[in-house]
Amino acid sequence: MFEPNLLKNKTIIVTGGGTGLGKSMAHRFGELGANLVIASRKMDILEKAADEIRKTGTQVLPIQCDVRDYDQVSKMVEKTVAEFGAIDVLVNNAAGNFISPTERLTAGGFKVIVDIVLHGTFNCTLAVGKEMIKNKGGTVLNIITTYAWTGSGYVVPSAAAKAGVLAMTRSLAVEWAKYSIRTNAIAPGPFPTKGAWRRLVPPGFGLENRMKKRIPLGRFGEHEELANLATFLISDGSSYINGEVVTIDGGEWLKGAGQFNELDRLPKLAWKTMAALRKKSSKKR
Ligand code: HXC
Ligand code: NAP
Repeated sequence: MFEPNLLKNKTIIVTGGGTGLGKSMAHRFGELGANLVIASRKMDILEKAADEIRKTGTQVLPIQCDVRDYDQVSKMVEKTVAEFGAIDVLVNNAAGNFISPTERLTAGGFKVIVDIVLHGTFNCTLAVGKEMIKNKGGTVLNIITTYAWTGSGYVVPSAAAKAGVLAMTRSLAVEWAKYSIRTNAIAPGPFPTKGAWRRLVPPGFGLENRMKKRIPLGRFGEHEELANLATFLISDGSSYINGEVVTIDGGEWLKGAGQFNELDRLPKLAWKTMAALRKKSSKKR
């Protein structure tokens, strides 16, 4: 799908790049020639992921960094520049989430999610953005989710924070275009990862099956599908795309939105009967 050296000489930071979708994206960027920094709180997990990705011949620098802390984020930026010289791409992928009835949340439960998702994304964008401004260009890609604009019960802290990241994406796409910085987002539907499933899909309630049934394409996303989309959006091939949110969800959110979509449950016989009745009544007129 892509030329083997598509991302050669590009330095890319992926926050939350040691697990799940972040790791899959980092892996793909590495295969295509990028220099990588993967950053999150757990160094042992980052080291393991870095070793795996290095097998593709990629240079990978794992950096321990809690995105909630601006000093740690600044240090991550310094280390990246010291190692690779400049930063071309930032993928804001780190996130926290859990399901909870909102009335059972504490202020601390709301804060922890907003701190990671919204403040963390801002901290990284600010620190890396200053470097990009110095270097006269770059690309920021934010990983959000479709409920950033629909909202969703039971994940209110995450929905509020991702909505904030969506607004930040569109705002900076305009404000920082003058520095040749493009800012875009991807809104994934459900992609199985240990991190998300452990916190959002408790086993034993048939939730996974019900989630799948909501998706018109009838399946969850494959990591490679998301990694390829991310690759396109950070590559020079998408150099005129700025301020866009690309949904990759098999049609899931639109199925929930269309008022008559539930009619796909009607059996064929019902449609035949309605057509016959319609013909009969038009003959009478
Ligand atoms: C209610 C909870 C809770 C839960 C924690 N809290 N878990 N409240 N239900 N399940 C509350 C605690 O009571 C505490 O409140 C506050 O949150 C902080 O909790 P800690 O455990 O001290 O936080 P911390 O150790 O920093 O861990 C952060 C975390 C954790 C977000 C809670 O889950 C984590 O590390 N997550 C990172 C990875 C992740 O979440 N991945 C999923 C991304 S998937 P008090 O009041 O006591 O301070 C995703 C998919 C979206 O985003 C779309 C899917 C389709
Ligand atoms: P995941 O594996 O749990 O990824 C979350 C990552 O964020 C972890 O690597 C975690 O690493 C890191 N992280 C959490 N708190 C952090 C902090 N304070 N500082 C730095 N890093 C932190 O889950 P995932 O499913 O791959 O999610 C990746 C992204 O996709 C998230 O933005 C999520 O909202 C989005 N998304 C996922 C789905 C899905 O179905 N999977 C759907 C829509 C959107 P540490 O624990 O080491 O810090």
